[in-house]
Amino acid sequence: MDQQPHVLILPFPAQGHIKPMVGLAALLCHTGRIHVTFLNTDHNHSRLTHLQALSTLFPTLHFKSISDGLPTDHPRTLQFFPELISSIKSVTKPLFRELLADSSRKSERPVTCVIADGIMSFAIDVAKELGVRVIAFRTFSACCLWSYFCLPNLIQEGQLPVGADEDMDMMVAGVPGMEGLLRRRDLPRICRIQLNDPLFQFFLVETQAMTRASALILNTFDDLEASILSHLAPLFSKIYTIGPLNALMRSRIGDGVPRSLSTFSNLWEADNSCMAWLDSQPLGSVVYVSFGSLAIMTRGFFMELWHGLVNSGKRFLWAIRRDTLSDAKGEQAIPVELQEGTKERGLLVDWAPQEEVLAHPSTGGFLTHSGWNSTLESIVAGVPMICWPQIGDQQINSRWVSEVWRIGLDIKDTCDRSTVETMIRTLMKDGREEIMMSMDRIAKLARDCVGQGGSSYHNLDMLIEDIGKI
Ligand SMILES: *[C@@H]1O[C@H](CO)[C@@H](O)[C@H](O)[C@H]1NC(C)=O
Ligand SMILES: *[C@@H]1O[C@H](CO)[C@@H](O)[C@H](O)[C@H]1NC(C)=O
Repeated sequence: MDQQPHVLILPFPAQGHIKPMVGLAALLCHTGRIHVTFLNTDHNHSRLTHLQALSTLFPTLHFKSISDGLPTDHPRTLQFFPELISSIKSVTKPLFRELLADSSRKSERPVTCVIADGIMSFAIDVAKELGVRVIAFRTFSACCLWSYFCLPNLIQEGQLPVGADEDMDMMVAGVPGMEGLLRRRDLPRICRIQLNDPLFQFFLVETQAMTRASALILNTFDDLEASILSHLAPLFSKIYTIGPLNALMRSRIGDGVPRSLSTFSNLWEADNSCMAWLDSQPLGSVVYVSFGSLAIMTRGFFMELWHGLVNSGKRFLWAIRRDTLSDAKGEQAIPVELQEGTKERGLLVDWAPQEEVLAHPSTGGFLTHSGWNSTLESIVAGVPMICWPQIGDQQINSRWVSEVWRIGLDIKDTCDRSTVETMIRTLMKDGREEIMMSMDRIAKLARDCVGQGGSSYHNLDMLIEDIGKI
């Protein structure tokens, strides 16, 4: 019998989950000894054909797909999230069980380990039922994950849900390790919805279910989140911290894979004209603005932001899809001072090659939604942040950015032009020296941990070794 390890990787069907997990798949296959089957939903599989080209680079990497149970023409947008998760449970789960059982009965290379997304807990249960080892991979920061683990505690203490009319600046007790740090407004966004809401229940249940896995993988690094990792440690027999994943990929495989991941699966072609523009700007002078691929922005906020950027007098590069802009009255609706200020000091592009922009010497700041992926990319590049968080783990990430790591500023929940202007001035000038001191220190830790002898480098070796023990 063939004794080579065969890992089945199952991501949650969303870009922010698929990309880091493909990155992990590449790292495992780079060893040449580990076989990986990457299981996307049929819907994603047919749209991510570019990813499948990675099989040429990594011969032990295979892509397969499974139904998410929704009809082909279903829109699958964020608002249908509850529908998606219930159909995954009812349709995908039995299909997954069949696939895994077939693999051990019929295939010449049975699956020896499942790596399941931390919010696809059905896979943990199926794998355990069939006697296959299973590791969970959660794509959030450790600080946010820990707050999710504390949700039952917060409910018990009567602190949830946080109503819109409550004092949002009140400190939250009940998340050990974050006393005196966490205000109500810093809690994950789901804390603002009703406790019986399916979305809230989903995260509550999935988080606890994760502990049934035999280990946990996190895209973070020890030096960044040591205090919180120590709270998570008793819940798992093992935690592999292997972040920042993109930087680890660069260190272990080279530049090709992270670059292909960030351009391949993006729906928008990289607008490389912005790199030439950056080349012509002074060192560290540009604020890069991007709210990720999922950001939903009202026109009102958008205009406030734009005024703030122009009024700050600083240079800016704004990656924003034109369809977000042109919804209302188009160009005519844009005030003259904005047009002029932008012509003088700014550039708007549909999409920018984010990691390259952050690494560019002209880039001096990042106005971000604080998604974990963007936060890590900014840390690696040593670019301090201004955070305007929206959903998921962003509320808590931005609190850590500003108050714990002190590598940026947090404008959560306030979006008027004068706040934006003041924050940009502070980040780029008045408060810069202090922020850059911690930024430089943390950026160095991030780069060191993925190099030989670094913690994430070592943890990946441990993961590879453990997967190899069949
Ligand atoms: C993957 O599927 C999800 C829904 O299941 C959808 O929201 C997302 O846009 C898809 N991504 C791609 C690149 O197909
Ligand atoms: C991280 O997020 C940025 C912005 O949303 C995107 O451009 C980039 O491709 C993402 N990278 C990965 C590895 O997901």
